[in-house]
Amino acid sequence: MGEYLILVNKQNGIGLDFEPKNLTLVELPTINNREVYLEKRAYVAYKRLFRNATKNNINLIIFSGYRDSNYQKMIFTNEFITAKPGYSEHQLGLAVDVSTADIGLTEILMYSQEGRWLNDNAYKYGFIIRYPKNKEHITEYIHEPWHLRYVGENHAKNIETANLSLEEYLKIRNNN
Ligand code: DAL
Ligand code: ZN
Repeated sequence: MGEYLILVNKQNGIGLDFEPKNLTLVELPTINNREVYLEKRAYVAYKRLFRNATKNNINLIIFSGYRDSNYQKMIFTNEFITAKPGYSEHQLGLAVDVSTADIGLTEILMYSQEGRWLNDNAYKYGFIIRYPKNKEHITEYIHEPWHLRYVGENHAKNIETANLSLEEYLKIRNNN
């Protein structure tokens, strides 16, 4: 299984000390010019996504990328919204929270042109909407239209076409 398919959820932690290789400083818009890092391939993919979004008048801004377990501990609110330290895929450097400056990380994003664009196009760049609506019982997190997870283009396309969560996709793959 490719490293970009790694499953991190409430049942599958990565350990408090896990650090991804190839973290890269993001040089695209971030909220309050925050210093954000992403795993290199995820960043290259995001750059393409961002460029094409901009061409289509979709103005995206990053709120969060790589977070180490200490940072995750600091922002922990409750278990339906935030992963516990050592259980967040932000710690992989493969997750990026994206919205507009006005909307922020709220469900309103899904009713905006930016949210709709992300929902329809993110897979083309290798990202999935990791916590989809109506899959809350599987992912065990609320719908997060802003949380993109890099899995690579082929997997993202398969997951999107079949309308699956990452958990469901991996289960099907492992049974074959
Ligand atoms: N909000 C997601 C679940 C995280 O904290 O990783
Ligand atoms: Zn996130």
